[in-house]
Amino acid sequence: MTHVASALACSNIALVKYWGKADVERNLTAVPSLSLTLAALTTRTRVEFDPNSNEDTLEINGSVLDGTPVTRAVRLLDEVRSLARIQTRARVTSFNDFPTASGLASSASGFAALALAACAAAGVELPPSATSSMARRASASAARSVFGGFVELLAGAEAAQPLVDPEYLDVAMIIAATTLGPKAVGSTSGMLNTQRTSPYYPAWVASAEPLFREAKAALLAKDLERLGEAMEASTLAMHACMLAARPSLCYLRDSTLSLMEEVRRLRSSGVAAFFTMDAGPHVKVLVSRADSARVRDALAAVPGVERVIVSGPGAAAHVLAPSVDGPARAGVAP
Ligand code: DP6
Repeated sequence: MTHVASALACSNIALVKYWGKADVERNLTAVPSLSLTLAALTTRTRVEFDPNSNEDTLEINGSVLDGTPVTRAVRLLDEVRSLARIQTRARVTSFNDFPTASGLASSASGFAALALAACAAAGVELPPSATSSMARRASASAARSVFGGFVELLAGAEAAQPLVDPEYLDVAMIIAATTLGPKAVGSTSGMLNTQRTSPYYPAWVASAEPLFREAKAALLAKDLERLGEAMEASTLAMHACMLAARPSLCYLRDSTLSLMEEVRRLRSSGVAAFFTMDAGPHVKVLVSRADSARVRDALAAVPGVERVIVSGPGAAAHVLAPSVDGPARAGVAP
C-alpha cells in the first residue's frame, strides 16, 4: 500500500448560493446550489499516514492549525481509515495559492483535495460521487470542488454532480479581494444563526429552487445575461436574509458596495458583468472572457481593492503524480 499521496483541487464560487442546512448532523444543504470551479485558486494537499505518529496534524501554508478545521479534517481522515481498515495517524500538509479563510472558499478546495489525497494515500478507491460526498460532510461547498466546470449540489443531496465542462461557456471570474476587516463570522455558524433567527429564512429557501432552475436553464442555453441576473438575485437574497438575522450578519463593506456600483456602471456602458459575494467582503464578477482585461482594470481602480485575480473555469480535482512538486494550474487559462 502507498502511504503518501498528494492531490490538487480548485476552489469554486457559487453562482446560486447554498446558505442553510436541511440536516445539521449529516451536513445536507437546505437549498440547491450551482457553482463554477476556478482554475486560479488552487489547494495542493499531501497526506502521509505515518505509523510513528500518535495524532493527526494539519499544516496550511507553513502554519500548524488547531480548532474547527482540524476537527473536520480528523473526522474525514477517520472515514478514510475506517474504509481502509487502518488506525494510522496522518500528517497533512496543504498549500493554498490564495489567502486562506478570507471568504475565498479555501475550505472548498481544501476538503476536496484532502478527501482525494487521503483516499489515495490509504489505497481506498472511490468513484468521484463518493469523494464528493465525503468532502461535503466536511464542508458542503467542498462537494462541488471535486468536479470541474459548472457543478450542481441539489438540496439534501449526498454528492455534487458535474453539469457542463469548463469550456462550455467562454467566461472568466474576476475576483476583487478587498481589505479584510476584523475576522468575519465563519459560514457554518453564520448560516446556522441565519436559519434560527432571520424572519426571511423561509422566503430565502422558497426562492432558491426557482432561482436555481432559472440559472441552470440559462447556463445550458449559454445565456450569460440571464445567468448573471439569476446569480446577482441569489447573492442579494442570501445577504438580505443574513442582514435580518439577530445578531445581524453583514459581510459587505464600503469597498464591496463600491465594487457593486462599478459593476452596475460597467453594465450600463454595455459590458455584460455580474457580481456575487460570499461570506466575506470580496466581490467576484462573472464576465465573458473577451471582457476580462477591461473589467479587471476597472475593478482594480476601486478604492479598497487590494488584489484582483482573473480566473478561468477550472478542471476536476485530481491526484498528483508522486514526482509533481509545484501547484500547477488545473484548468483553462483565463
Ligand atoms: C456563502 O460550505 O463553507 O460560500 O457546509 O458549513 O462548511 P459548511 O459551509 P460552507 O458554506 C459556503 C457558503 C457560501 C455559498 C456557497 O458556497 O454555496
